Amino acid sequence: MRIAVFASGNGSNFEAIASYKFDFLEVVVLICDKSNAYVLDRSKRLNIPAYVFIPCNYENRKAYETDILKLLREYKIDIIVLAGYMKVVGKTLLDAFPNKILNIHPSLLPDFKGLNAINEAYNHNVEKIGITIHYVNEDLDGGKIIAQDSFLVDDMTLEEVEAKIHKLEHILYPKVIKDLFDRSRNENINSR
Ligand code: GRF
Repeated sequence: MRIAVFASGNGSNFEAIASYKFDFLEVVVLICDKSNAYVLDRSKRLNIPAYVFIPCNYENRKAYETDILKLLREYKIDIIVLAGYMKVVGKTLLDAFPNKILNIHPSLLPDFKGLNAINEAYNHNVEKIGITIHYVNEDLDGGKIIAQDSFLVDDMTLEEVEAKIHKLEHILYPKVIKDLFDRSRNENINSR
């Protein structure tokens, strides 16, 4: 199974997934929507081809995603993994990859959807803070939840919380991808 990771920024989750030793899965391409994102440096270092699609160069989301989809077909992509991808996924990609698009969000969904989730949870003085991996659908951060992990905030600073969140993300995301998809084609056929 071949994975495309979509990312917009730092790319620490991209790196965690791309360097994970799966049995039958491989990250074969990075899709990025920002030409100066640090994740592009990571992909170079990891020798994974990266393609930048700038949304404002397109008339609308459909045109933008249609162009991306063409590339995904060329790379024979089976699974899309969003890792800090700051755009909403539209119908073109959702229809082409039903139940094959995952996202990670730094909160215990359904709480604190959208941007600045860690800050918001921290400022709400929640007792527990965590992360969620979910399927992507047309609702922002609203798809079916696959896995969550959390910890007690106690007297942690915001910086400590952020660092712990990212640490958990780098452990949980590859593991969930492995549990969901890391099977050979033969096993898939046999389990039908
Ligand atoms: C992560 O916290 C992820 O949960 C959120 O965006 C952040 C991306 O971090 N969706 P990175 O670019 O993978 O370092």
